[in-house]
Amino acid sequence: MRVIVEKDKEGVSRRAAQFVANLVRRRPTCVLGLATGSTPLGMYAELIRMHREEGLDFSRVVTFNLDEYVGLSGSHPQSYRHFMQQSLFDHINIDPRDTHVPDGRALDFENYCEQYERLIAEEGGIDLQVLGIGSDGHIAFNEPGSSLGSRTRLKTLTEETVRDNARFFGSEKEVPRLAITMGVGTILESRQCLLLAAGDSKARAIRDTIEGPITAQVTASALQLHRDVIAVLDEEAARLLERRAYYREVEQAQAALQAGQLGKFGMPTS
Ligand code: GLP
Repeated sequence: MRVIVEKDKEGVSRRAAQFVANLVRRRPTCVLGLATGSTPLGMYAELIRMHREEGLDFSRVVTFNLDEYVGLSGSHPQSYRHFMQQSLFDHINIDPRDTHVPDGRALDFENYCEQYERLIAEEGGIDLQVLGIGSDGHIAFNEPGSSLGSRTRLKTLTEETVRDNARFFGSEKEVPRLAITMGVGTILESRQCLLLAAGDSKARAIRDTIEGPITAQVTASALQLHRDVIAVLDEEAARLLERRAYYREVEQAQAALQAGQLGKFGMPTS
C-alpha cells in the first residue's frame, strides 16, 4: 500500500482531488467509485473548483456510490443520494443518468443488489474507488465481521457507526439501522483504491488497516490484499503508524525518480 501523509485535512483533499482529476483527464470515460461522509467533502469541493476554473470535464464519467441508508428516499436530506447531489453532482457537468447511488427504498433488495453489481460490471468495473473509513475500521458500510469476499447487500449498522453518524441526523434514534452497501469483495475488484482519512478519531482504524493483520474485524485491512491502494492521510490520522519514516522515504524516492534524478540511486546520469 502506498501511504501519503499530508500536513492537514486540506492537504488530503487537494492530493486526493489530484488523483481523481488526473484519471479523468487521462481517461475521460472512466468509472469512479465514490464515497460519502465528511472526509471526501473537501476533495469534492476541489473537483468542483477544477471543473469551473480548469474545465475538468465529467461529461463522460460514470460513478457508482458505495452505499445508502435503507428506508431513505433520494430526496431525504440525510440520504447519500442527496449528499452526492449537493456535494458534487449538481455542480459539475456529469450526466445524471451516469450517477449511480444504491436505492435505499428498493423493494426487492436481493435482486436490486445483484443488479447493482451487474451494472458495475456492464460499465467495465470501477477504475478508481474513493474510500473513507469508519472509526471501527469499516469501509463503505462493511461493519466488523463482514465477509472479506462480500458483495453488495444489506448490512446492519453497529452501535458505534450509528453513534458516529448521529451528528448528521437530529439524534441517534433517527439514524437508520440498515444500509445497502457494496461488499468488501466488490471494492477489492476496483482497479485502484484511494483511501482517505483525517483526524485523530481515525488514527486507530488507520493503524489497524495499514499495519495490523488482515481481519474481518477491521474490514479496511482487506485492502492489504489489493495491488493498487493509495492511502492519503493527514498527520493526525497517521499518528499511530510505526513505519511513517519509511513511507516518507518511499515518497521522496518516488518523487526523485519522477524528476529523473537517477544519480540519487547510484545510476549513471548521462
Ligand atoms: C460512513 C460511510 C463510510 C464513511 C464513514 C466515515 O460509515 N458509510 O463510507 O467512510 O461514514 O465517515 P466520515 O468521513 O464522516 O468520518
